Amino acid sequence: MTAPVIVLVGPMGAGKSTVGELLAQRLGVPYRDTDADIVAAQGREIADLFVDEGEARFRELERAAVREAVAGHTGVLALGGGAILDDSTRALLTGLPVAYLSLDVEEAVRRTGLNQARPLLSVNPRRQWRELMDARRHLYTEVARVTVATDARTPEEVAQAVLDALEL
Ligand code: S3P
Repeated sequence: MTAPVIVLVGPMGAGKSTVGELLAQRLGVPYRDTDADIVAAQGREIADLFVDEGEARFRELERAAVREAVAGHTGVLALGGGAILDDSTRALLTGLPVAYLSLDVEEAVRRTGLNQARPLLSVNPRRQWRELMDARRHLYTEVARVTVATDARTPEEVAQAVLDALEL
């Protein structure tokens, strides 16, 4: 059975892509990202998919993309920040080496700010961040084997902390 060697979950701005690329390099395995898979398959940016098709349709595409990636990828896999909202996705992650890259709300606001490319944060970033994290924190924790705080760490330090925590 193929399975990812590391799955990264966590909010936007936690550095999943940067850290994921570093981890893949360190381990000599491929890197994959479900947001990029969706963009490639749909031929449209995530923000455009949200506007044109709505969030519910995006979540369906995301559920399918995660399922496919988890079944077919043997490297490092990063999931979009909201992927863990889906019950079947969380069930799928059971038993996998999942690392939650956590991020404090104030640091999240600093890192992402007012960002049109991130459709969930385009109106009032601080309030939206607080609501988003209140709704999701326990879901990240539920699927995670390890949690690594990213607030005061460089991507290299986060990558090392993930390897240490997962004993890789
Ligand atoms: C989302 C996070 C984004 C992307 C979409 C929705 C979310 O991914 O999937 O904009 O709901 O948190 P990143 O976490 O990779 O930015």
